[in-house]
Amino acid sequence: MTIALIVLAAGQGTRMNSDLPKVLHRIGAAPLVAHALAAGRALEPEQVIVVAGHGAEAVTKAVGKIDPEAKVVLQAEQLGTGHAVAQALPALEGFDGRVIMLYGDTPFIRPETLERLAESTAAVTVLGFEAADPGRYGRLIAKGNALDRIVEFKDASDEERAIMLCNSGVIACDAVLLTELVAGLKNDNAAGEYYLTDIVAAARAKGLSAEVVTCPEEETLGINTRAELARAEALFQARMRAEAMENGVTMVDPDTVWFALDTYIGRDVVIGPNVVFGPDVTIESGAQIEAFCHLEGCHISRGATVGPFARLRPGAELAEDVHIGNFVEVKNSILAEGVKVGHLTYLGDADIGEGTNIGAGTVTCNYDGVFKHRTTVGANAFIGSDTMLVAPVTVGDGALTGSGSVITENVPAGAIALGRAKQMNRPGLATKLFEMLRAKKANMKKGS
Ligand code: UD1
Ligand code: CA
Repeated sequence: MTIALIVLAAGQGTRMNSDLPKVLHRIGAAPLVAHALAAGRALEPEQVIVVAGHGAEAVTKAVGKIDPEAKVVLQAEQLGTGHAVAQALPALEGFDGRVIMLYGDTPFIRPETLERLAESTAAVTVLGFEAADPGRYGRLIAKGNALDRIVEFKDASDEERAIMLCNSGVIACDAVLLTELVAGLKNDNAAGEYYLTDIVAAARAKGLSAEVVTCPEEETLGINTRAELARAEALFQARMRAEAMENGVTMVDPDTVWFALDTYIGRDVVIGPNVVFGPDVTIESGAQIEAFCHLEGCHISRGATVGPFARLRPGAELAEDVHIGNFVEVKNSILAEGVKVGHLTYLGDADIGEGTNIGAGTVTCNYDGVFKHRTTVGANAFIGSDTMLVAPVTVGDGALTGSGSVITENVPAGAIALGRAKQMNRPGLATKLFEMLRAKKANMKKGS
């Protein structure tokens, strides 16, 4: 079955009270629309169309980053969900598979649920749910799984409003039929909108079948307010924590570990309390992340240990058995196998060779105020504590830098580099100085 996806994301989201289009608000460090796209992508659709309207420019830019193959179409005026789908259909010209339509502000739909809609053999299939509080949802008029029509809350009778089976908004329909049905939609209803939901009755009137597939209410949760956004974040985190534990990850205090949509953690990774994963983190099996670490855009290999209190930023690549200790920041740097960076260090734009030890307080001075420069340190080198590596600079294999050195020139392999003022000792001078100062203090007391 070939699939196309239409993601509706043109609405303003007035109740968010925000300049940001609703679908760009984030949970799990990813815009809401990224969640919908991720669920839809799991079906390997042939085409993905996002319908943007409010904040279309920002939405187009974001979608381009999240899913470069998705196409964004504009719905200049929001005349209803049916009208939104109509804007997407020209982009699907010639496609004759099944179209799955979902909302960009509904982040919890599971791929398995979309799969069931894709596999349904009915002409139109609607994802429904039993609502705890059906509120203003559209109601599904059905006998068992056989769906007759959808009635919007505004247009529903009291009897229809008493129905608990509601429309999630996710609908699947054969493409050719969808084009025909959408073309026939009218807006003679309480909202004066083109309702996508009217395609069900239209299909039935043609003697075609319509079906309800149901899912837990949680999956259909939409986000309309900041409070709902916060609840959605909590729900998302709960899902990710449970999933990680099922996949063999140990978390000492799971409620304090924060995941991003794309966090990938291997088996037997152990994570301490209060760890935050930003976007794009992968951790291989058996690595250990101690308490209070903040990680984003990094890759941590088997056997590596990180933290407590470490910060890994985009482009941090840790090979096997690397050790990163407390108060260490690593950005855009590749650390080869067995590198140790124990304490209080900044590594930015650096390549560090196998087995090298980076002493406490080392800083790569990578930025000259305009350009960033790289630092290269060879294998089995020893960077003394408090070394300033003024980039661009290279330290050779097996070289050593003296503590407190400011390294501005390349260090050959096997050399010792000392870049600090020469020390002088003045015998007895401290004793004399203190005697003088104490005598002065005693005189001042007498005088007062
Ligand atoms: C819609 C459904 C309703 C369902 C509910 C589930 C219709 C007519 N009604 O109602 O049966 O129970 O969702 O949440 O479909 N959108 C556009 N362009 C538009 C209008 C909407 O892109 O012109 C997008 C919105 O951004 C949103 C989604 O479609 O993501 C749903 O729109 P919304 O106005 O929230 O629909 P509801 O009235 O809640
Ligand atoms: Ca809604």
